[in-house]
Amino acid sequence: MRYAAVRQSLASILDGETNMTARYATTVSLLVQAFAPRFFWTGFYVVDPDKGNELVVGPYQGTLGCLRIPFGKGVCGAAAATGQSQLVPDVHAFPGHIACDSRSASEIVVPVRAPDGTLLAVLDVDSTEPDAFDLVDQAGLEAICALTASA
Ligand code: SME
Repeated sequence: MRYAAVRQSLASILDGETNMTARYATTVSLLVQAFAPRFFWTGFYVVDPDKGNELVVGPYQGTLGCLRIPFGKGVCGAAAATGQSQLVPDVHAFPGHIACDSRSASEIVVPVRAPDGTLLAVLDVDSTEPDAFDLVDQAGLEAICALTASA
């Protein structure tokens, strides 16, 4: 239900805005307002156009995040490399997990694709609670990322 409300607000606020930084930042703000404190760290890692196979931190809210993540490294890197959402109930059990903040216990990462299928970024949401995310979150966040990317 809350995802539908976020989607509705986002669609009207982003209408006509083509700047991706503005779209990412607004998406993060609405998600945090709707879902904090369960969403402890919420932000985008954007594909670095100069490197192609590396993510660089974009708009986020939360404690200090690492700046760069190579494709294939950690949960964000796995989402970027496979193109699949990653639902991780226990980050400590995930091989290569990058611990930016030791309080993170579970996370979900969703790829952000342009309408033509190009990978633009990933959305990373971390929680201090184990097993904080489920398939409702996955479907909700995938729909929101599709909206964010459809400038
Ligand atoms: N948890 C991520 C790293 C980014 S931060 O948590 C902000 C990962 O392993 O991909």
